[in-house]
Amino acid sequence: MQKPPVTIQDKQFSIYIPERKILHSVEIVAARLSHDYKGKQPLFLSVLNGSFMFASDLMKEMSIECEIAFMRLSSYADMESTGQVKEIMGLKEDIRGRHVVVVEDIVDTGHTIAGLIPQLQEKGAASIEVATLLIKPESLQHELNIKYPAMSIANDFVVGYGLDYNGLGRNLRDIYKVM
Ligand code: IMP
Ligand code: MG
Repeated sequence: MQKPPVTIQDKQFSIYIPERKILHSVEIVAARLSHDYKGKQPLFLSVLNGSFMFASDLMKEMSIECEIAFMRLSSYADMESTGQVKEIMGLKEDIRGRHVVVVEDIVDTGHTIAGLIPQLQEKGAASIEVATLLIKPESLQHELNIKYPAMSIANDFVVGYGLDYNGLGRNLRDIYKVM
Protein backbone atom coordinates (compact mmCIF):
# COMPACT_ATOMS: atom_id res chain seq x y z
CA MET A 1 0.00 0.00 0.00
CA GLN A 2 1.28 3.48 -0.94
CA LYS A 3 2.37 5.53 2.06
CA PRO A 4 0.57 8.85 2.58
CA PRO A 5 2.39 12.17 2.03
CA VAL A 6 4.22 13.75 4.97
CA THR A 7 4.27 17.41 5.92
CA ILE A 8 7.46 19.05 7.21
CA GLN A 9 7.04 22.70 8.11
CA ASP A 10 5.71 24.45 4.98
CA LYS A 11 6.26 21.60 2.53
CA GLN A 12 4.56 18.35 1.55
CA PHE A 13 6.55 15.32 0.49
CA SER A 14 5.39 12.18 -1.31
CA ILE A 15 6.90 8.72 -1.09
CA TYR A 16 9.70 8.31 -3.63
CA ILE A 17 12.07 5.44 -2.76
CA PRO A 18 10.79 2.78 -0.36
CA GLU A 19 13.02 1.40 2.38
CA ARG A 20 13.40 -2.06 0.79
CA LYS A 21 14.70 -0.49 -2.43
CA ILE A 22 17.13 1.71 -0.48
CA LEU A 23 18.46 -1.27 1.48
CA HIS A 24 18.82 -3.35 -1.67
CA SER A 25 20.89 -0.62 -3.35
CA VAL A 26 23.03 -0.31 -0.19
CA GLU A 27 23.70 -4.06 -0.29
CA ILE A 28 24.88 -3.81 -3.89
CA VAL A 29 27.29 -0.95 -3.14
CA ALA A 30 28.59 -2.78 -0.06
CA ALA A 31 29.23 -5.91 -2.15
CA ARG A 32 31.19 -3.88 -4.72
CA LEU A 33 33.22 -2.16 -1.98
CA SER A 34 33.87 -5.47 -0.20
CA HIS A 35 35.22 -6.87 -3.46
CA ASP A 36 37.29 -3.85 -4.49
CA TYR A 37 38.85 -3.19 -1.06
CA LYS A 38 39.67 -6.74 -0.02
CA GLY A 39 42.98 -6.66 1.90
CA LYS A 40 43.08 -2.85 1.97
CA GLN A 41 41.24 -2.21 5.25
CA PRO A 42 39.42 0.90 3.95
CA LEU A 43 38.59 3.84 6.18
CA PHE A 44 35.04 5.04 5.64
CA LEU A 45 34.76 8.75 6.26
CA SER A 46 31.16 9.61 6.97
CA VAL A 47 30.19 13.22 6.30
CA LEU A 48 27.80 14.27 9.07
CA ASN A 49 24.96 14.79 9.55
CA GLY A 50 23.22 13.48 6.47
CA SER A 51 25.13 10.25 5.90
CA PHE A 52 24.75 8.68 9.36
CA MET A 53 21.99 6.24 8.39
CA PHE A 54 23.56 5.23 5.09
CA ALA A 55 26.96 4.82 6.76
CA SER A 56 25.42 2.57 9.40
CA ASP A 57 23.62 0.28 6.95
CA LEU A 58 26.63 0.24 4.60
CA MET A 59 28.97 -0.88 7.40
CA LYS A 60 26.59 -3.68 8.40
CA GLU A 61 26.73 -5.07 4.86
CA MET A 62 30.54 -4.97 4.53
CA SER A 63 32.10 -8.42 4.51
CA ILE A 64 35.75 -7.31 4.82
CA GLU A 65 37.78 -5.58 7.55
CA CYS A 66 37.06 -1.85 7.51
CA GLU A 67 37.01 1.17 9.81
CA ILE A 68 34.79 4.21 10.11
CA ALA A 69 35.43 7.80 11.17
CA PHE A 70 33.16 10.82 11.18
CA MET A 71 33.67 14.42 10.22
CA ARG A 72 31.78 17.58 9.64
CA LEU A 73 32.40 20.32 7.17
CA SER A 74 32.32 23.89 8.38
CA SER A 75 29.22 25.36 6.83
CA TYR A 76 28.34 28.92 6.02
CA ALA A 77 24.72 28.77 4.89
CA ASP A 78 24.93 31.72 2.52
CA MET A 79 28.00 30.29 0.82
CA GLU A 80 26.44 26.90 0.20
CA SER A 81 25.62 27.64 -3.42
CA THR A 82 28.81 29.54 -4.24
CA GLY A 83 31.01 26.49 -4.04
CA GLN A 84 33.15 28.02 -1.29
CA VAL A 85 35.52 25.36 0.02
CA LYS A 86 34.46 24.13 3.42
CA GLU A 87 37.06 23.07 5.96
CA ILE A 88 37.13 19.62 7.50
CA MET A 89 36.18 19.60 11.17
CA GLY A 90 36.47 16.91 13.79
CA LEU A 91 38.58 14.42 11.84
CA LYS A 92 40.97 13.03 14.46
CA GLU A 93 42.12 9.96 12.54
CA ASP A 94 45.41 10.01 10.69
CA ILE A 95 44.51 9.19 7.11
CA ARG A 96 48.09 9.11 5.80
CA GLY A 97 48.52 6.04 3.62
CA ARG A 98 44.90 4.97 4.13
CA HIS A 99 42.41 3.94 1.49
CA VAL A 100 39.63 6.42 2.19
CA VAL A 101 36.01 6.04 1.10
CA VAL A 102 34.05 9.25 1.66
CA VAL A 103 30.47 8.39 2.63
CA GLU A 104 27.93 11.02 1.59
CA ASP A 105 24.16 11.23 1.70
CA ILE A 106 23.80 12.99 -1.62
CA VAL A 107 25.94 14.56 -4.33
CA ASP A 108 23.97 17.47 -5.74
CA THR A 109 26.06 20.27 -7.34
CA GLY A 110 29.22 18.41 -6.35
CA HIS A 111 30.67 21.51 -4.62
CA THR A 112 31.10 19.64 -1.33
CA ILE A 113 32.98 16.68 -2.81
CA ALA A 114 35.02 18.85 -5.17
CA GLY A 115 36.20 20.89 -2.17
CA LEU A 116 36.74 17.93 0.12
CA ILE A 117 38.86 15.64 -2.05
CA PRO A 118 41.88 17.99 -2.37
CA GLN A 119 41.88 18.47 1.42
CA LEU A 120 41.96 14.70 1.95
CA GLN A 121 44.72 14.37 -0.65
CA GLU A 122 46.73 16.95 1.28
CA LYS A 123 46.43 14.80 4.39
CA GLY A 124 48.19 12.00 2.53
CA ALA A 125 45.46 9.45 1.82
CA ALA A 126 46.68 6.57 -0.37
CA SER A 127 43.45 6.61 -2.35
CA ILE A 128 40.12 8.42 -2.16
CA GLU A 129 36.79 7.32 -3.62
CA VAL A 130 33.24 8.40 -2.90
CA ALA A 131 30.26 6.28 -1.89
CA THR A 132 27.03 8.24 -1.94
CA LEU A 133 23.50 7.12 -1.28
CA LEU A 134 22.11 9.45 -3.93
CA ILE A 135 23.44 11.43 -6.87
CA LYS A 136 21.63 14.05 -8.96
CA PRO A 137 23.49 13.85 -12.30
CA GLU A 138 21.53 16.79 -13.76
CA SER A 139 22.71 19.09 -10.95
CA LEU A 140 26.41 18.24 -11.11
CA GLN A 141 28.64 21.24 -11.76
CA HIS A 142 32.01 19.52 -11.41
CA GLU A 143 33.83 16.78 -13.26
CA LEU A 144 33.70 14.17 -10.52
CA ASN A 145 34.29 10.48 -10.68
CA ILE A 146 31.79 9.17 -8.14
CA LYS A 147 32.66 5.50 -8.19
CA TYR A 148 30.07 4.16 -5.74
CA PRO A 149 26.66 5.80 -6.09
CA ALA A 150 23.83 3.70 -4.65
CA MET A 151 21.06 5.43 -6.62
CA SER A 152 20.66 8.22 -9.19
CA ILE A 153 17.71 10.58 -8.91
CA ALA A 154 16.24 13.50 -10.85
CA ASN A 155 16.79 17.05 -9.68
CA ASP A 156 14.17 16.93 -6.90
CA PHE A 157 14.58 17.92 -3.26
CA VAL A 158 14.37 14.79 -1.11
CA VAL A 159 14.17 13.95 2.61
CA GLY A 160 14.32 10.82 4.72
CA TYR A 161 16.84 8.07 5.53
CA GLY A 162 19.16 10.69 7.02
CA LEU A 163 18.41 13.52 4.62
CA ASP A 164 16.72 16.58 6.06
CA TYR A 165 14.66 19.64 5.34
CA ASN A 166 15.70 22.30 7.88
CA GLY A 167 16.97 19.56 10.18
CA LEU A 168 13.76 17.54 10.05
CA GLY A 169 12.74 14.35 8.26
CA ARG A 170 15.95 12.44 8.89
CA ASN A 171 14.06 9.77 10.85
CA LEU A 172 11.89 8.67 7.92
CA ARG A 173 12.71 5.10 6.82
CA ASP A 174 11.83 5.83 3.20
CA ILE A 175 12.95 8.65 0.93
CA TYR A 176 10.33 11.29 0.04
CA LYS A 177 10.41 14.03 -2.57
CA VAL A 178 8.93 17.48 -2.39
CA MET A 179 5.51 17.79 -4.04
P1 IMP B 1 26.48 19.52 -3.04
O1 IMP B 1 25.62 20.51 -3.78
O2 IMP B 1 26.82 18.34 -3.90
O3 IMP B 1 27.69 20.19 -2.45
O4 IMP B 1 25.61 18.98 -1.83
C1 IMP B 1 25.68 19.61 -0.59
C2 IMP B 1 24.78 19.02 0.45
O5 IMP B 1 23.50 19.57 0.25
C3 IMP B 1 24.55 17.53 0.51
O6 IMP B 1 25.56 16.81 1.16
C4 IMP B 1 23.27 17.49 1.32
O7 IMP B 1 23.56 17.57 2.70
C5 IMP B 1 22.56 18.75 0.83
N1 IMP B 1 21.51 18.40 -0.17
C6 IMP B 1 21.60 18.48 -1.52
N2 IMP B 1 20.46 18.07 -2.10
C7 IMP B 1 19.63 17.71 -1.08
C8 IMP B 1 18.29 17.18 -1.04
O8 IMP B 1 17.60 16.94 -2.04
N3 IMP B 1 17.79 16.94 0.21
C9 IMP B 1 18.49 17.18 1.35
N4 IMP B 1 19.74 17.65 1.36
C10 IMP B 1 20.30 17.92 0.15
MG1 MG C 1 25.80 15.99 3.17
